[in-house]
Amino acid sequence: MPLAALKQAAGKAMKVVSVSPDTGQQGGALAKVHCGAHALSGKAVRVNNCSSMQTSDWTQKAIHAHHCAGPLTLQARSLAAVWHPCTQMQRATQVPPLAIVRGQGPWLFDDRERRYFDAVSSWWVNLFGHADARLNAAIKDQLDQLAHVMLAGCTHEPAVQLAERLSLLTGGVLGHCFYASDGASAVEIALKMSFHAWRNRGRPSKQEFVCLRHGYHGETLGALAVTDVQVFRDAYDPLLLRVHQVMSPDARQAADGETAADVAQRAADALEALLQQRHDRIAAFILEPLVQGAAGMAMHDPSYLRRVRALCDRYDVHLIADEIAVGCGRTGTFFAFEQASGKGQEKIWPDLVCLSKGISGGYLPLSLVMVRDALYDAFLDDDVARGFLHSHSYTGNPLACRAALAVLDRFEEDQVLAANRRRAALLTTALAPIARDPRIEHFRHQGMIWAWDVRSPFVGERFAERFQLAGRRHELLIRPIGRTVYLMPPYVLDEALADWLAKQVKATLDDVLQENPCHVDGTPEPKIA
Ligand SMILES: Cc1ncc(COP(=O)(O)O)c(C=O)c1O
Repeated sequence: MPLAALKQAAGKAMKVVSVSPDTGQQGGALAKVHCGAHALSGKAVRVNNCSSMQTSDWTQKAIHAHHCAGPLTLQARSLAAVWHPCTQMQRATQVPPLAIVRGQGPWLFDDRERRYFDAVSSWWVNLFGHADARLNAAIKDQLDQLAHVMLAGCTHEPAVQLAERLSLLTGGVLGHCFYASDGASAVEIALKMSFHAWRNRGRPSKQEFVCLRHGYHGETLGALAVTDVQVFRDAYDPLLLRVHQVMSPDARQAADGETAADVAQRAADALEALLQQRHDRIAAFILEPLVQGAAGMAMHDPSYLRRVRALCDRYDVHLIADEIAVGCGRTGTFFAFEQASGKGQEKIWPDLVCLSKGISGGYLPLSLVMVRDALYDAFLDDDVARGFLHSHSYTGNPLACRAALAVLDRFEEDQVLAANRRRAALLTTALAPIARDPRIEHFRHQGMIWAWDVRSPFVGERFAERFQLAGRRHELLIRPIGRTVYLMPPYVLDEALADWLAKQVKATLDDVLQENPCHVDGTPEPKIA
């Protein structure tokens, strides 16, 4: 039977399995198999003759079908049909996807009505929990008016209002908003805009970019070029633009007697040395302000942002703040970069800001790039080709923009930033036993992000994977990055929930570290967020 037909049949009433690399027989009459649906139930099965089977590579797995009593689980169908993101599919049976059927507040419920606290806000996107009544109502209302219209040659109220309101949040400094869908496309746009603006201004030699060590900006080719997370980047290195990487201001690098501000100073000095040398060729410097997320929630002193703003001004280099993960209140202010200015000081801003993830409350794909007027003006010309001819079909989708407007309403109506300060204090207090735990180091916190690193001798093999699985047993959706455990919960914590969350995380940590009390293992952990 051809693969497609098998998969179709599997989707109806058959179980999908793959051949074990150890025992699978190509073209044999019988093969002992364990994978897909059967790995999930722990059974080995007999399969039909598979002589016409085309094998593909993952687990050398042919997909076999055989009659079975019950219907397929959602997990098994997913493993048969869906190529999951950021996943080594060969291990997907060991860590099968949670089959989520609904969400409510911070909880996700699977197809067996087991609940999981969304401790990572579903890849850092969810702000106010799942199925939030106000966001739902706004989107439903928009759905009855206009689901989508192209944004070239047309416009609509949600896109206009969102651009206006976001600009107001910067005091009008970032006057225009360019829309896209995912975070990586916003980064692509920001890089292209910077280069093209310099070119339109008669400085075509400014075509190089600077990024931070251990920075992460997405996985399309342009965004990946300015990303320094090996596991994502290395395979594609030959395809990527050459960029400059400079020292990260990650405060964990502090030597004895050094403060976070000292590390920030050293990192800024390294940037200055590069800009001094090559500023006439450098278009832009891109960074994640305050927290380098995918690097393992590496946090830095805000003085770094002040310094880099001054350096970019001095050397005529655009400053791109990638606030895709850290924007929308995550670090304690609406834009993380706001913390570059001290209390009572005039706010300073980047030249371009990328936003995504939380901006639509974790409901719909939306990203955007906010820019200063001077940069926008560089594209105004009689010549069409000097305009910014970049587009995506769903640019400025009205449903997504309306969700974002509902998010901004929530910030105003519920005084979210102040409420988050109270929430953060609760969780920080509740996490004190973990902060004191001698098996961990670098306990850190910024706004609604908490992180700590498990000390190397306790890590053991596949720490992140084991932690994720143990978390499930404690009703948590949690995904460490390497040996860094972090929490990025939705903005819904109260005292009871904060206490519960801290206890469950501690229990998970204890379970995982007891499995492996003190084991030094040289295998590098895959750093998958
Ligand atoms: C800082 C940062 N930039 C860019 C991205 C890419 O966003 P997306 O996954 O929506 O493409 C991410 C995603 O995690 C991110 O954290």
